[in-house]
Parts: sequence; structure tokens; C-alpha cells
Amino acid sequence: MNYPFWNIPYLGSSWVIGIIAIFHVMISQFAVGGGFYLLFAERKAMREGRTDWHQQLIKHSKFFLTITGIYGTVSGVGIWFAIGLTHPEATSTLIHNFVFGWAIEWVFFMVELITAAVYYYTWDKIDPKLHLKVGWVYAGASAATLIIINGILTFMLTPGDTWLAVAGTGAEASKFWFAFFNPTYWPSLLLRSAVCISLAGVWALVTSSCIDGDKFPALKSSLVKWSVKWLMAAFVIVPFALIWYLWMVPASQRALLTLGIDTIGAGTFSVVTRIALLIIITSATIVGVAYQLAYKNPIDFNLSTAISILLLALMATAAGEYSREMLRKPYVIGGWMYSNGVRVKYVDAINRNGYLKDSLWVWKDSAGQSSSYSRGEAIFRGECSSCHTLDGYRPIRQLLAGRDRANIASFLKMLHEYKADSPYRRFMPPLSGTAEDVNDLTEYLNYQVNPPATKPQTLAQK
Ligand code: HEC
Repeated sequence: MNYPFWNIPYLGSSWVIGIIAIFHVMISQFAVGGGFYLLFAERKAMREGRTDWHQQLIKHSKFFLTITGIYGTVSGVGIWFAIGLTHPEATSTLIHNFVFGWAIEWVFFMVELITAAVYYYTWDKIDPKLHLKVGWVYAGASAATLIIINGILTFMLTPGDTWLAVAGTGAEASKFWFAFFNPTYWPSLLLRSAVCISLAGVWALVTSSCIDGDKFPALKSSLVKWSVKWLMAAFVIVPFALIWYLWMVPASQRALLTLGIDTIGAGTFSVVTRIALLIIITSATIVGVAYQLAYKNPIDFNLSTAISILLLALMATAAGEYSREMLRKPYVIGGWMYSNGVRVKYVDAINRNGYLKDSLWVWKDSAGQSSSYSRGEAIFRGECSSCHTLDGYRPIRQLLAGRDRANIASFLKMLHEYKADSPYRRFMPPLSGTAEDVNDLTEYLNYQVNPPATKPQTLAQK
């Protein structure tokens, strides 16, 4: 544990990533799908000589440029900040493996941003055919960003046996392409592409809902209907892509989906299952609402309905990304690194040498001495806090409530021994450390759950 700990009370730092990521995904996938939408719409307008479409597309591309160029970019950088602070170990592994991938990604980002701006500012200023070509460059570059980032995201869930075989040897980069085209790469690419296309339709409904239906009935009705088709077409693909995707996920991870039905105790993990249901319900509602209120009544289709569809899509996206994260538990990089940054193969060494052996982040008193409590605090922060807060998200005080010291100690012992049949293995990493570490953590957690009259001094209270 060589990194300082980023303490976000109640929420937990993972949720900081989560919240930024959910908005970012909504916008960045719009950036990919929306490019193709503009391209095909412009071509259609050109072929059919529809000047009304042309004028509306100029407005839509301004909206597109603003949303993707500003919010997409800022939130993307925000994710980098947040993952670096929350998961320094995992971020480091990703950079070591994919630095070249990321370099390519950033080149495409640049092309994407520049062409989005050129595309918007050159409407009616350059030859229409050339303008369309700018659109193609944009669409190609934005598709490339998805093609690349998809490799890195899916790697985290399923790094694949070839990469795992060399992980930790220093030869990881030689297996770049195996890591990149990992088992879930293709289904995930199909899934995300479909989502990009449907989001293009969802966002286009926002701008086309603002067209005055009384003044321009033909324009509004044709554009709204056309946008709904984008939305629907993708939804046909999503269920198949999702099944394929889950098929490629290792059975141990897939088991998390069915865990709720097992005996593990009320509510433990039916969360994933429930979230998966939420995706299906929100998606079905989107299709229903879009068909009834947009496709069948395009003239009356208004902004508030468009925003409702957008919010439902946001919920579906959030649920989708959340279950993807949950599927990965207890790992941040499947089979290689646990969510708390501990590498699977280091567990034995940590059990021998102690978790805090090289740590600079334990509170010490003026004589340079740490207490059992302060070591326990550092262990809690390092080993548990990527998934638990004290009060708030998966609150440890509440989860341990009612247990006395002996009881907490036996729970931690179980987590430390990490026996093959332990139900906790499916979503929690082992508690790694020496017997003294386990005792220190017991000390700290017991203080939280059964607070004594006087509290020990810690860094947090200074
Ligand atoms: C990879 C994420 C993750 C990490 C790291 C993690 N936990 Fe958990 N833990 C969970 C999840 C998920 C649950 C189920 C929570 C729920 O039901 O809401 C859970 C449940 C618990 C429970 C309740 C168990 C029960 O049977 O009711 C306790 C206690 C707990 N964790 C303690 C810890 C401690 C102590 C650590 C650090 C040594 C830790 N956890 C690390 C994910 C994690």
C-alpha cells in the first residue's frame, strides 16, 4: 500500500468515478453514434433536396458540438483524475499495458474534436460533398475511439489467459493484442455500437422536439420519425449482444448475477440481478414511449417527453455500467488484481510480511509510534474502502452492527482465511495481512461499531 488514500465520506471514491462515468458514457457514445446520424441525415437531405432538413441539421450539429466537445471532453479528463486517485494501482497497470493504445486514442480524440468543429463551422461555406467528407472523417475517428477504449475496458473484466500467463513478468506488453482482443472484446463492441446508434436517436429527439410543429409539420414529423428509427434499430441488436457478452464472461463472474437467488442472505447480491432487470425495464419503456409519443404523434412531440426519454436512457446506461462493474467483483482486473489494488499473487507475501510493511500512510504519534487503531485504519482504507464507507455506501458500521469484538474478529478471520467454499469469495477479496494486521483491523472496526467513551487520536481527526 504505497499510495495515499482519497477519502470521500459517505459516497466512497468509487462513486465519484461512477457518477462522472455515467454522464461521460452517455455523451461519448452519443459522440460516436451522433456522427453517423449527422452524416446519414446530411446525405439524405442532399439526395432528396430537403433544405428544411439541412437547416435543422446545422442546429443539431451545433448542439452536438457543444455537448460532445465540452461535456464529453471535460468528463473524460475527469474520469482520469478520479481513477488515478481512487485506483492508483490499477491505473498504473493499465498505463503500463496500454500506453500505446492510449496514445492512439488521444490522436483520434484530437481528430474527432477538430473535425467536429470544422464540420459545424463549414456548413454552406464549402462544397457540400467536401462537407460530407469532413463528416466521414469525424465518424471514422470517433468510431476508432470506441474501437480502442473497448479493448481496454473489456480487458479489465476478462484479461484473457495469454495475458494472465505473462502478467507480472515484465513481458505484458508483448501480449498487447491478446489483452486488447480479449474474450469479451467483440460482444462488447457490438453492444456498445448498438447503444451508440440508439443514443444518437435519443439525443436527436431532443433537438427535433424543439421544432415548431405548427409551422413546420413536414420537417418535424419526418425528423422525429427518422430519429425514432435509429433508436429502435439498435434496441433489436442489444438483447443478442448482451447474451453473447454474458456468454463470454467467466462462469465465476457470471455467478454473481444469480447469487441473489442463492442462500447468501437477504439482498446481498440480488442487487446485480435487480439492476439487470432495471436495464430491461427502462429499455422497454424507452421503446414504448418513443413509439407511442414520438413515432405515432411526431407533431405534438415535445421537449419534456424528449428529456424523459433521455433520462430513461441515462438510467439504463447507469444500470448497465453498474452491473458491468459488479460483474467484475472482487477484481478490478479479472483474476489479476483485486478491487482494492492487491495483486492476487502477492497475497501470500502480504500474509507473511504484513500489509503495511512499505506503507507511508499510517498515522504516527509524536514519538513516531503507530497504534493498533491507526494501523487498523490504514488497513481499512487500503483493503476495504474501495467498496465500503463507514456510513453511507455499503456502510461498514451498519453491516457489522450488533457484532461484538469477538464476532468481528471471527468474521475477519474468515475473510482472511478465504476458504474455497466461503461465499464472500464471490464478491470480496481476501483480507490480506499477518495475524497482527487482522487484529489491528478488528481493533479499528470494533471502535467504529462499538465506540468507547474516548476516541483515539488519528490522522483523520487532526
Ligand atoms: C470488491 C469490493 C469489496 C471489498 C474490497 C470489500 N468488500 Fe465487504 N462486501 C462487499 C459486498 C459487495 C458486500 C455485500 C454488501 C451488501 O449486502 O450490501 C460486502 C459485505 C460485507 C460485510 C457484510 C457481510 C455479511 O455477511 O453481512 C462485511 C462485514 C464486509 N463486507 C466487510 C469488509 C471488510 C472488513 C473489508 C476489507 C477487509 C471488505 N469488506 C472489503 C464488497 C467488498
